[in-house]
Amino acid sequence: MTRNGSPGDAARRFSVAPMMDWTDRHCRFFHRLLTRRALIYTEMITTAAIVHGDRARLLGYDQTEHPVALQLGGCEPRALADCARIGADLGYDEINLNVGCPSDRVQEGRFGACLMAEPALVGDCVAAMKAKVAIPVTVKCRIGIDEQDPEHSLEVFATAVEQAHVDALIVHARKAWLKGLSPRENRDVPPLDYDRVFRLKAAHPKLQVVLNGGVPSVEQAASFLGRVDGVMMGRAAYQEPWRLMAVDPLIFGDAPSFAQAKAAVQAYGPYIQRELAHGTRLASITRHMLGLFRGVPGARAFRRVLATEAVKPGAGVEVLTEALAQVVDSGTDLAHIAA
Ligand SMILES: Cc1cc2nc3c(=O)[nH]c(=O)nc-3n(C[C@H](O)[C@H](O)[C@H](O)COP(=O)(O)O)c2cc1C
Repeated sequence: MTRNGSPGDAARRFSVAPMMDWTDRHCRFFHRLLTRRALIYTEMITTAAIVHGDRARLLGYDQTEHPVALQLGGCEPRALADCARIGADLGYDEINLNVGCPSDRVQEGRFGACLMAEPALVGDCVAAMKAKVAIPVTVKCRIGIDEQDPEHSLEVFATAVEQAHVDALIVHARKAWLKGLSPRENRDVPPLDYDRVFRLKAAHPKLQVVLNGGVPSVEQAASFLGRVDGVMMGRAAYQEPWRLMAVDPLIFGDAPSFAQAKAAVQAYGPYIQRELAHGTRLASITRHMLGLFRGVPGARAFRRVLATEAVKPGAGVEVLTEALAQVVDSGTDLAHIAA
């Protein structure tokens, strides 16, 4: 538990990572159908976008998404504090600061992963946000950047944010190389070092530490829980969302929300109808479920129907019904999950 002992602490045992262009509100609503308990994150939203942009579009979310964390990108304590306050007033359950993204655009703004080199500034950012909100303020970082020695860089960084009373530190367990690797390569090429994260937790027992990076399954996530306080899953959760159906039973000891993935899709129907009525394109919603049946007979046909039909102008919920009809009812979705 963190100092606050907030409700988010338990949810942080398993979270779905913030992913730009992926974890939009349609995706989050869908993931919430698959797991009631996991903490889910928005895409990164910059302070500049919140200050100058269309707030309702950027920050709007559905009440069923709770617990949901807002991830901010920025490096200016006052702007971050103001945006954290806006997020808290909208009812978000946690504010998270991105110190892991290595894209050029983010580097130009002097935030994201390059802040690993400025622990004191990140400490100031956390302190400023915490002064403005009562909800947890967390940071997502790397183990180091460029030539930094992760043994030293992560220790200095964690100490700075812990002194600022951060509520949790989520560590993507690999370095980021700011020059020479694309953001995508930076998610695969630098080697994973889980032991560095386990040592961080051992050295900072009061700091809530969440491990991220390359976790392939919920079973694997569960196996890490003795050594860290939580696990964050990104690509495996997005690309094969059926995995999320195992989160409530395996991580939280709860019954799954649905025994079968098909039932979860059917439960998504009213939301989709509502969105279509407001002018959302079907494909903007269904693109997040393409991997739902991976490994199940009919999965390819499901994907193909959605990929070809849902993009057509005027496509309605009947396209989803047709796609679902391609999937063979095995009655063994949960066995598939446990495999
Ligand atoms: C498409 C995509 C977009 C991402 N966008 C963000 C982001 O907005 N903020 C962030 O902190 N990390 C972002 N990440 C990194 C993930 O949050 C996560 O740290 C990374 O993918 C490693 O976890 P995984 O191996 O479980 O996917 C993104 C990753 C992907 C694949």
